[in-house]
Amino acid sequence: MSKILVTGCAGFIGYHLCISLLQTKKYNVYGIDNLNSYYDIRLKKKRLNNLLKNKKFFFHKIDLVDKKKIKNNILKNKYEIIVHLAAQAGVRYSFINPDTYFNSNILGFYNLLETIKKTKIKHFIYASTSSVYGDSKDFPFKENHNTDKPASFYAASKKINEIMAYTYSKNYNIPLTALRFFTVYGPFGRPDMALYKFVEKILNNKPIELFNKGNHIRDFTYIDDITSSILKILKKPSKKKVPHEIFNIGSNQPKKLYFFVKTIEQSLGLKSKKIRMPFQKGDVHATHADITKLAKFINFYPRIKLKDGINNFIGWFKQYK
Ligand SMILES: NC(=O)c1ccc[n+]([C@@H]2O[C@H](COP(=O)([O-])OP(=O)(O)OC[C@H]3O[C@@H](n4cnc5c(N)ncnc54)[C@H](O)[C@@H]3O)[C@@H](O)[C@H]2O)c1
Repeated sequence: MSKILVTGCAGFIGYHLCISLLQTKKYNVYGIDNLNSYYDIRLKKKRLNNLLKNKKFFFHKIDLVDKKKIKNNILKNKYEIIVHLAAQAGVRYSFINPDTYFNSNILGFYNLLETIKKTKIKHFIYASTSSVYGDSKDFPFKENHNTDKPASFYAASKKINEIMAYTYSKNYNIPLTALRFFTVYGPFGRPDMALYKFVEKILNNKPIELFNKGNHIRDFTYIDDITSSILKILKKPSKKKVPHEIFNIGSNQPKKLYFFVKTIEQSLGLKSKKIRMPFQKGDVHATHADITKLAKFINFYPRIKLKDGINNFIGWFKQYK
């Protein structure tokens, strides 16, 4: 059995990835998370408890900032593959607490790179974001577009990761792959993200806040499309001279926030009360993923339609609450 490490295993994407990996029965899955309280810790614990029911899952509570512990864990366990998803996520919170982005996303990433350069790791995959494209209007976003103008420190921290990864890949010949996720949603989703907030507020008859008056456009991507792609990418480290690759993972189906809300309302059978908010600093007007590169690489086509994905989320949410 291959040994794989997933950082951020108690997080939304990390949890789903661990479940998918365990279902293949091909991996011993190791998870690291610091279980921080950025959002309701009960949701993280619920995810973690589900994972711990499987005997092939092993958890270590470690903060990425703790270089010694990270190093000991990785050198001791000799993972074949690492999928690094732990990070401080969220655009708006990076204006409130930039320190945590610096520590978790930049210093934490550096600690991992410094450790793996001493190992024989076969593949290191890490989460980047559509936010690296900034407020670009050059649609759809391709991996080779300019990403030098991130609009928030969150986006900047992820862009910095991509640059650091390239250098370590070049100098130490480590196969590293960046995945630029586009607005991921689904069951067990994050309470700080639109779908969770909207569903909770509509069910409680409270008004929802629509930033940019609902005119934002987002390439919403269902969680299963993300995890099934990662499962395929795991086995395909870059064979290039500098083995660093970057892929968009999106749905290539951008939708207006207004339409997103309408679909939620239809699924719930309820109408929302709306507060139309101005455009927020750090936000971008639209995202739209070009997924040609990934489609060619792993034969990827997003399968889950927005309506079905939202229904799945609502089904989970009602049970969870
Ligand atoms: N969800 C999305 O739409 C989206 C979009 C683009 C990129 N991403 C990226 O994907 C990754 C996963 O996102 P998510 O939505 O699952 O977020 P999440 O917040 O649910 O998960 C991240 C997990 O990492 C853990 N973590 C944070 N800092 C840590 C540290 N210093 N040490 C150890 N653990 C730490 C958190 O406790 C959390 O459980 C992140 O890197 C995020 O930036 C997510």
